[in-house]
Amino acid sequence: MAQYDVIVIGSGPGGYVAAIRCAQLGLKTACVEGRETLGGTCLNVGCIPSKALLHASHQLHEAEHNFAKMGLKGKSPSVDWKQMLTYKNETIEANTKGIEFLFKKNKIDWLKGWGAIPAAGKVKVGDEVHEAKNIIIASGSEVSPVPGADVTVDEKVVVSSTGALELPKIPKTMIVIGAGVIGLELGSVYSRLGTKVEVIEFLDAITPGMDAEVQKTFQKLLTKQGLSFTMGAAVQSVEASKTKAKVNYKLRKDDSEHTAEADVVLVATGRRPYTDGLGLAELGIEMSERGQIKTDSQWRTNVPGIYAIGDCIDGPMLAHKAEDEGMAAAEVIAGKHGHVNYGVIPGVIYTHPEVANVGMTEEQLKDAGVAYKAGKFSFMGNGRAKANFAADGFVKILADKNTDRILGAHIIGPMAGDLIHEICVAMEFGASAEDLALTCHAHPTYSEAVREAALACGDGPIHM
Ligand code: NAI
Repeated sequence: MAQYDVIVIGSGPGGYVAAIRCAQLGLKTACVEGRETLGGTCLNVGCIPSKALLHASHQLHEAEHNFAKMGLKGKSPSVDWKQMLTYKNETIEANTKGIEFLFKKNKIDWLKGWGAIPAAGKVKVGDEVHEAKNIIIASGSEVSPVPGADVTVDEKVVVSSTGALELPKIPKTMIVIGAGVIGLELGSVYSRLGTKVEVIEFLDAITPGMDAEVQKTFQKLLTKQGLSFTMGAAVQSVEASKTKAKVNYKLRKDDSEHTAEADVVLVATGRRPYTDGLGLAELGIEMSERGQIKTDSQWRTNVPGIYAIGDCIDGPMLAHKAEDEGMAAAEVIAGKHGHVNYGVIPGVIYTHPEVANVGMTEEQLKDAGVAYKAGKFSFMGNGRAKANFAADGFVKILADKNTDRILGAHIIGPMAGDLIHEICVAMEFGASAEDLALTCHAHPTYSEAVREAALACGDGPIHM
């Protein structure tokens, strides 16, 4: 029986990062993973494969819509779906193998199999029980069923994000249930590949919780790209045959019943914590009503020596939030001061244009009664964006009306997912909008739009 300082359960972005940081801090570390490859949902069936398909389908979109305008003439490429899936699978393999390499480099043992915790200090994998002074649970999340509806996912005709990354052919029609991150990213992929995509959403706005102005612009741009939206519609049931599925829904405004039909239905109505088989009830680990493991501010559960991070605890289900918690929990175990600033966790949607946000929305600031100013700058005034046919969207910076301290930022536009990070750094340093505005930004870059939005919080932008 092996003895460890730390055993991490789960090798997703939370778990593998925690394991690497533990090893770097001199702790003898193992990581339990039951999948054939490391990396969890994110690398195997989530972030990474979806980004490969988003990238490939965006290239097609560029070829179809913008190449001729730039003087690049000729037939647009046709889609070899099998090869696109191979490219996606190779991307997954390169990334999961990369984690395997990092485990070897850091002398982390991969305990292959599904882990359970028979008692504090013990982790059972298969028939073997391993001892660990500390255990970090990083078991992630799974697709949650459509609330209050009769929907069975068969991963053929009615698919989750996992099945949507593996469809045997590009469907002619697709219904996406849920206008959240997964629905819009994968809906965009298929729409660009020629599928007629209809999104059915319970609420009256897409991407719940996001800045309302961004929501409206985003929906308009996606509609222009060919996606259609049925809003305020509660899906009641899905009836699937071998080749088609019918989605029955009720419009909330008048309770009227409707049916829509498509070759494939993608269920994207959220995820829930995954803790099956760990034996948490027997251990007496406290859980929330939403099935999350309860932790204190140092990621400790109520059972000494057992920590939890990532999607299986409270907070946004984001790979980078899990990574930060993984590093911080490792530092706490090593006797250091692990910390995560939950007020500065960016969110990104990798559609085209991208959408990114950090900090408070205007709606949250109004609710909290905070006096704020909004500095906005459209990509129409950004030379680089215009040259690249990427001038849709804007940067909006929200700053305290009295102190000018940056409180939040909302970007829809080219490379929004990268641009957001200069604002994250600024927020970590407690910067004012003026600090950003006074920072020289190279010309011509998309990042000038961020500076102009910061200028708009003061005396005004130059190019608007
Ligand atoms: P989500 O919570 O983002 O969106 C689900 C949507 O489904 C909501 O708009 C909700 O109102 C709607 N809905 C719920 N029940 C419905 C019904 N009966 N009929 C119609 N609509 C209904 O969930 P999603 O997109 O499945 O993503 C799951 C998690 O994965 C999220 O926490 C997300 O942040 C994370 N994720 C993050 C990504 C990123 O950072 N780029 C990419 C993919 C996932």
